[in-house]
Amino acid sequence: MQIPNFMTEEGSILYKNTVGKVISPKVAEFVIAKTAKLFSTDIQHVLDVACGPGTVSLHLAEQYPDKQFTGIDASAAMIQQCLDTAKLKGLKNTEFLEMNANTIQFPDRTFDFIICNLAFPFFSRPKESMEGMYHVLKRRGTILVSVPGRNTWKEFFLVAEEVLGDSIPFAKPFLSKFDQAETLPISMTEAGFTIVEQTGHKIPFTFANGQAVLRFFQELFSLLSYAPEEIRNEISETIDKKFPSGFTMHYEAVVVQCTHP
Ligand SMILES: C[S@@+](CC[C@H](N)C(=O)[O-])C[C@H]1O[C@@H](n2cnc3c(N)ncnc32)[C@H](O)[C@@H]1O
Repeated sequence: MQIPNFMTEEGSILYKNTVGKVISPKVAEFVIAKTAKLFSTDIQHVLDVACGPGTVSLHLAEQYPDKQFTGIDASAAMIQQCLDTAKLKGLKNTEFLEMNANTIQFPDRTFDFIICNLAFPFFSRPKESMEGMYHVLKRRGTILVSVPGRNTWKEFFLVAEEVLGDSIPFAKPFLSKFDQAETLPISMTEAGFTIVEQTGHKIPFTFANGQAVLRFFQELFSLLSYAPEEIRNEISETIDKKFPSGFTMHYEAVVVQCTHP
């Protein structure tokens, strides 16, 4: 199984056609709704860290033309996608910059609000990234970070475990990303933030049958590419037997909201 590298040009295309199409818009919906509730008139400048194709910031920029949105991402291809979409939509309140979250380069206390959706588990130096976000957020500013929770795709992994026993090493690197939900609040408080709230939200994904589930994992993560065809078929048949009228699994979006004290 592979954790895709979304930072390459190839990765940005893969993202656009897979996670960016299927998962992140649904998670972003939740983050956007939460953000909208927190947006007051004195919030002027918003930073979207690892903005990808602009899933969150482009949507908010359209909704809030009176606020300024800055998106950063380490991938030049992602930034280009943001610039193209912003141009297409005729947005005048956005800027997108190629910048690594490990070394955020803005003057201290530049932003009133920071969003980081579905990206923190990918950062190679999470401590530096969190400290960077702390420095560029204004006092009393708000930060929202969303990561996948431990129960993400749990229903699928229960079936896979039933078929493969406890030997599902293929899933280990993948599942380790889901540990972030537990360590994220610690990283945030260590950087200096004060936790206001931590919420979990289960987003359902429904599939007609086992083969559709396997296709989903294969396209996104090459999750079962190592496994012989019999194993894949066994997983797929088990899903069909246990869930004859369709299979639903959930993505668990954990959102931690903090303030700058
Ligand atoms: C799963 S995507 C999420 C994108 C976006 N936030 C969304 O909601 O669709 C993860 C993003 O993190 C970016 N990324 C990974 N490591 C990064 C880093 N160190 N600095 C900046 N961006 C990074 C990738 O290029 C990719 O666009």
